[in-house]
Amino acid sequence: VPVLVVSQGGPKAHLKRFHNRGVKWLHVVASPGHAQKAEEAGVDAVVAVGGDAGGHPAPDEVSAMVMVRAVVKAVRLPVVAAGGVADGAGVAAMLALGAEAVQLGTRFLMTPEANVHAAYKQAVRVAGIADTTLIGRGRLPVRGLKNAFSAEVELAERSGMAEEELKLLIARSTLKMAAFDGDIAQGKVEAGQSAGLIDDIVPAGEVVENLMCEFAEARSRLVRLD
Ligand SMILES: Cc1cc2nc3c(=O)[nH]c(=O)nc-3n(C[C@H](O)[C@H](O)[C@H](O)COP(=O)(O)O)c2cc1C
Repeated sequence: VPVLVVSQGGPKAHLKRFHNRGVKWLHVVASPGHAQKAEEAGVDAVVAVGGDAGGHPAPDEVSAMVMVRAVVKAVRLPVVAAGGVADGAGVAAMLALGAEAVQLGTRFLMTPEANVHAAYKQAVRVAGIADTTLIGRGRLPVRGLKNAFSAEVELAERSGMAEEELKLLIARSTLKMAAFDGDIAQGKVEAGQSAGLIDDIVPAGEVVENLMCEFAEARSRLVRLD
């Protein structure tokens, strides 16, 4: 494995072992402070994730637009931007902020190659930009589509459900239920706000070609501003 992307936890325990074998280590961070710690530990690059991202986003909900800029200013390492990007215009925006590359999650979920249930993809396809929510604020939050399960959790949080009971409620639902069994009402349909920018399912290769064309368009639009 030539490159690792590592998230959730510090890099110190295992970094040396992988560097000794020539493996590059990209560390996922959700704050400028974490990025600086990862830089001090010696990682090769950081992935700066914003609160708009699907899956486990920045827990303090800072958008990728602000997070990426703050991380770029905080470290000298190459920064990969993650969160809220679904097309080449978004890629151009992140590179303009100083990122060297962009990581897209939700966009690649919407490809025939992605091994998730058709009902999951259909729900992401019709979702708008405001149709996701964060479940588990103050713990390890997950961003996914609003559904019956997320509504139940939000109601429980608002009504002050006891911590232990809430934990059990949140653990009742899994990504697997949505992704493999197609239970998009009770499962965790993990997706970012960028779901609202995606309305097709196209092969991953085509996604990449489209990204390149859209990026070139965005770039020439900016150049015309000169
Ligand atoms: C279904 C799904 C599962 C994810 N699982 C993980 C994960 O296990 N670990 C992780 O670091 N990021 C995970 N992510 C986040 C992505 O790696 C990426 O940072 C994020 O999707 C970028 O934001 P976007 O969804 O707006 O493109 C996941 C994202 C999605 C959509």
